[in-house]
Amino acid sequence: MATPAAAASNGAIGIAPGVHWIGALDPDLRNFDIILRTANGTTYNAYVVRGSAGVAVIDTVKEEFTDDFLRRLESVARYDEIRAIVLNHLEPDHTGALPELLRRAPHAQLYISTRAQPMLKGLLKEDTLYYQAVTTGDSISLGDRTLSFLHTPYLHWPDTQCTYLVEEKILFSGDVFGCHFCDPRLFNDAVGDFRFSFEYYYAHIMRPFRTWVREALDLIEPLELAILAPAHGPILRDAPSRYVNRYRALAESSLKNEAGEERTLLVFYLSAYGNTRLMAEAIASGADGVDGVRVSLYDLQGGEVQPFVDLIEEADGLVFGSPTINGDAVKPVWDLLSSLTAVSVRGKLGAAFGSYGWSGEAVAMIEDRLRGLKLRVPLPGVKAKLIPNADELSHCTDLGRELALHLTGRFEHKVIDMAALR
Ligand code: FEO
Repeated sequence: MATPAAAASNGAIGIAPGVHWIGALDPDLRNFDIILRTANGTTYNAYVVRGSAGVAVIDTVKEEFTDDFLRRLESVARYDEIRAIVLNHLEPDHTGALPELLRRAPHAQLYISTRAQPMLKGLLKEDTLYYQAVTTGDSISLGDRTLSFLHTPYLHWPDTQCTYLVEEKILFSGDVFGCHFCDPRLFNDAVGDFRFSFEYYYAHIMRPFRTWVREALDLIEPLELAILAPAHGPILRDAPSRYVNRYRALAESSLKNEAGEERTLLVFYLSAYGNTRLMAEAIASGADGVDGVRVSLYDLQGGEVQPFVDLIEEADGLVFGSPTINGDAVKPVWDLLSSLTAVSVRGKLGAAFGSYGWSGEAVAMIEDRLRGLKLRVPLPGVKAKLIPNADELSHCTDLGRELALHLTGRFEHKVIDMAALR
């Protein structure tokens, strides 16, 4: 069995009897998928499992590392022994070497998740490709070894799945439990301190899908686990359940508020001359009068963005107020809105308001952004030219009350009596 130091050279690394790491090290990578910083690079972890009736390859590597991957694979298996290629995830950092592997392994059957089928065609551009779609409960036998599949979609693409090697209690988890951390010592009890990378990866890759994380954990937690073998970063052989437990903690509510069963509505605003603030206060007061809703008011000038993002993740409704300056909403509002890609806001209630001097584009622009983030925006926002008058403040109060009624399911649509309009 090769030693971990071999990861820096050419060899496959044994992680259990008949199971090897055949991935690649990418220590120079400094950005991943544009949005992630990778201070010391990453690894693309692929694995090979040998059974009495054949060999399975689990995931591949980014295309530019194909030679490393094939060299490591060749050190432990022949191509004509490969019966199965399992793809836990089709993003190119794990499928870059797939076309070459398929060319070389004539007896290999491809196994992907049921949701991966359209992606596979988009990736390989081959309509004739033969594959098997699998889901939870399906398994394949390699003779004395069994690979069992767990359907764990949206972690972080629709296609993602995990694969469990029953006899060795190893979960090949794809991006789940992974992190961008490159260390040739490979195993979590041998590498440097990667806690920051693990948390950072969860926060940027998995957090927006925490409902799906919880569903995946429901499948993973009952498994006996000797090793978690993710597709990036250290192989977690020391206390793997610690990482499962950490995911569970992260995927549950990050903050417990005092609202209990009440629905929560957050009103954010920025105000140049106090006018948008008056509107914010009127909205908050309208919502506050509705039983079952807890409303909170925040001046964006007085806070950091990140804690607001945490609050927003937990909230049921979000209202954003901005003056219009040079035909636009103001930067702190955009900063907060652009941070929301890190959390799931789909389906929350949204609205906008603001005071303006000339044209008042900010309200519509914010509403467009909220719709783009898949919030529900059922009520038109309120605009006020300069200082809001009594009618405009009354509209704000109405907006707050109606948003609160929406949150509690008690909003009643107005029925317009056409006869009364005559
Ligand atoms: Fe590591 Fe989602 O690819």
